[in-house]
Amino acid sequence: MKELSQMRENYKMGSIDASSMNENPFLELNQWLNRAIDSNIPEPNAMILSTANVDALPDVRTVLLKGFKDENLVFYTNYNSKKASDIEANPNVAVLFLWKTLQQQIRIQGTVSRLSRDESVKYHASRPRKSQLGAQASRQSSVIKDRKVLEDKMADLLNKYGENEPIPCPELWGGYVIHPQTYEFWQGRRNRLHDRILYSKCHTSNTWKTVRLSP
Ligand SMILES: Cc1cc2nc3c(=O)[nH]c(=O)nc-3n(C[C@H](O)[C@H](O)[C@H](O)COP(=O)(O)O)c2cc1C
Repeated sequence: MKELSQMRENYKMGSIDASSMNENPFLELNQWLNRAIDSNIPEPNAMILSTANVDALPDVRTVLLKGFKDENLVFYTNYNSKKASDIEANPNVAVLFLWKTLQQQIRIQGTVSRLSRDESVKYHASRPRKSQLGAQASRQSSVIKDRKVLEDKMADLLNKYGENEPIPCPELWGGYVIHPQTYEFWQGRRNRLHDRILYSKCHTSNTWKTVRLSP
């Protein structure tokens, strides 16, 4: 293996001009996301979701940002999963977008609520049939004996619903909405002197305060 301690990259792809950033970080997120999408990096909507359980034990995993509700971030999952049980016990979460080839990351802290059942059902109906069946076949985060358990379940469901029978949205599957309280935009710069701009929500005035953080 290459010597890890000697692996390093000098970041020089961009910079943040704090004076031209949006007052509203949601608009800034949209601009960054659009640039990431236009740059054709794979799955720019993949975000690392961090939760902590009732004992404050943290956990992380990737989920896909699937849209926005007002100025909040929506992802979909199983309401019986590990992440869901963390969220139900402790609605504070953080997400991270890492766009390595752009030398950028965005960190967001926020609180989570469930998306309405109607909106989840609507999105579910737009998914490919096999993804709909996959969601039914998997009791996400539960222990299974082997892969055959999943494959048998999928075969049963394919048989049950055939080619055209509508597939209902499982009660235990749906969306969560992340309501951001802070955003940090990070751009790698030369010599580890990176740019970091932090937005924090001021609840009394419903405005955002920005500061620059030392790298
Ligand atoms: C690129 C990528 C995208 C993923 N998107 C989702 C997603 O949108 N929803 C989801 O429930 N799991 C998604 N997963 C799987 C999760 O990372 C995780 O394995 C799963 O949700 C179970 O997590 P949990 O046991 O902590 O609840 C994705 C994984 C990867 C690598």
